[in-house]
Amino acid sequence: MKIVQITDTHNSAHGGISNENLVKMIEFVNELEPDLVVHTGDVSILDPDNEADRATAARLLGELKAPLRVLPGNHDIGEPGEAPIGGAGVTSARVAAFRAVFGDDRWVEYIGGFSVVGFNSELMSSGLPEEEEQWAWLESLPAQLEGRPTIIFCHKPVHAPAPGLPASTYSIAPQSLDRLRSIVDNIDVQAFGSGHLHRWALEFHDGVQSISAPSTAFVYPGVEGQFGPSLSQLGIVEYQLTEDGGVTPFFRARPDLAEHYAVNVDTLRLALEEMGIDMSTLDITVRDVLRIA
Ligand SMILES: [Fe+2]
Ligand SMILES: [Fe+2]
Repeated sequence: MKIVQITDTHNSAHGGISNENLVKMIEFVNELEPDLVVHTGDVSILDPDNEADRATAARLLGELKAPLRVLPGNHDIGEPGEAPIGGAGVTSARVAAFRAVFGDDRWVEYIGGFSVVGFNSELMSSGLPEEEEQWAWLESLPAQLEGRPTIIFCHKPVHAPAPGLPASTYSIAPQSLDRLRSIVDNIDVQAFGSGHLHRWALEFHDGVQSISAPSTAFVYPGVEGQFGPSLSQLGIVEYQLTEDGGVTPFFRARPDLAEHYAVNVDTLRLALEEMGIDMSTLDITVRDVLRIA
């Protein structure tokens, strides 16, 4: 059995390199014949309110042959925290708009003897009513999963990739992480899988492997220095599930993807302009990751 994780496809209604790369990666994923594909968010290039970008992503992803589950990223529904990018905080309306196209933003799938859980990281510490609904659902999981080995997916890393980064921008905020820990302590978690950082990395937290999946759209050079050892290349993650309940993740890529730095992607620059985002107002770490002087 195998699961493929794709993430941060950042599609645009204006076309461009992120769409072209996704078309190639979908051909590649279809050849792998996975039992399930999980998209861990940032289907949209930048603006969570751009319905045309969302529709474009849905149309492209419709070419996948395997069953698909999609989770929202910060560019799909906004994000919690004091300084959301472009001023786009997560709202109930944005969550509803995402669900209308991609379905539930939290779910469980059963593959062989495994369970696969997806939840919405952008609700964490948001204070929205949907956050408490999600906590109640998360708290019901240990009983529901009945001890199965489990993989848990969401957009932002569950654990901070490095100390001192702004909470909610790079990972789940500490108070929510404590609450989440008290739940997952009662689940046989074999792996956490996230996106958002546009890098491939495999780390261990509390003895559990934590996978940062690469984007298929564009790269952030320099994250290796900020976030620890990792690979800034485009690709996907294939999770092989073994009969003994183990999970082994593999970085996979095809060699003909165009790898562009985020700041050099025309459709991203266009989207920044359309949102009226002044680069100089962005958090210094975000500016550094985007390679904006
Ligand atoms: Fe992203
Ligand atoms: Fe993101």
